[in-house]
Amino acid sequence: MTNDLSPIDMAKYAAAKQATEYVESGMKVGLGTGSTAAWLVRCLGQMVRDEGLSIKGVPTSTRTAKLARDAGIDVISLDDAKWLDVTIDGADEFDPDLQLIKGGGGAHLQEKIVATASDRMIVITDASKKVETLGNFPLPVEVLRFGMKTTQALIEETLVGMDVLGRETSVRLNGNLPFMTDEGNHIIDLHLKQINKPRQLSLVLNQIPGVVENGLFIDICDVVIVGHEDGKVDVHDITSGTDSEIRYDKHDDDNVFRDMLD
Ligand code: A5P
Repeated sequence: MTNDLSPIDMAKYAAAKQATEYVESGMKVGLGTGSTAAWLVRCLGQMVRDEGLSIKGVPTSTRTAKLARDAGIDVISLDDAKWLDVTIDGADEFDPDLQLIKGGGGAHLQEKIVATASDRMIVITDASKKVETLGNFPLPVEVLRFGMKTTQALIEETLVGMDVLGRETSVRLNGNLPFMTDEGNHIIDLHLKQINKPRQLSLVLNQIPGVVENGLFIDICDVVIVGHEDGKVDVHDITSGTDSEIRYDKHDDDNVFRDMLD
């Protein structure tokens, strides 16, 4: 049935499936948000139901919480878990140092809290997310609703002193209204084109009153698994400094796809 997947879904699925190798019974697992993380949740759900995998999942959004429950994964809160063995999530961009931009789906606040509370963060992605320098993808910044326009002006003023190529900002919309996060905040997207000093930018943005959290994940990600359309995966591990290529074997996958159709 994997033959029925679009090329991009095959790539995301291959990365997600490979990431399940990092999950064992007894673990507390952070569950990311987005289309790639959704594949991971489906794969883990299948392992719970068919292989007796016993895990506690900590979702990073209401969307993922519902998906995980529907898949049969035991969901707990981060406060109940306190600390996690591993978090597996997607990304919007990653660079050679495995620094990330996240938040395209508006969930980067919970994603960053959960990933930071984990022994390991594993990112699953397709090859389109790989960049030399972060910044082509607009950087999401979650802001309080109170005084949002003032916060936006302060962000724009701050960008003048930053090593970036663009300085446009826009309030993310959902229809005609500002997009609302799970925490009831809004998001300002920064169109920076190139972020030459992501660590510095992340620190400076988070010092602006009204900014809740930005989508730069600095020194949080340990492993990036890149899935390809032919089912091959590349694994970049920053802690061991190794890069490996694995050909994913499509055996025994029918359950995941049958469940999607249910
Ligand atoms: C959600 O807020 C994001 O951080 C996602 O993890 C990111 O946008 C990747 O999403 P996709 O897997 O759908 O590309």
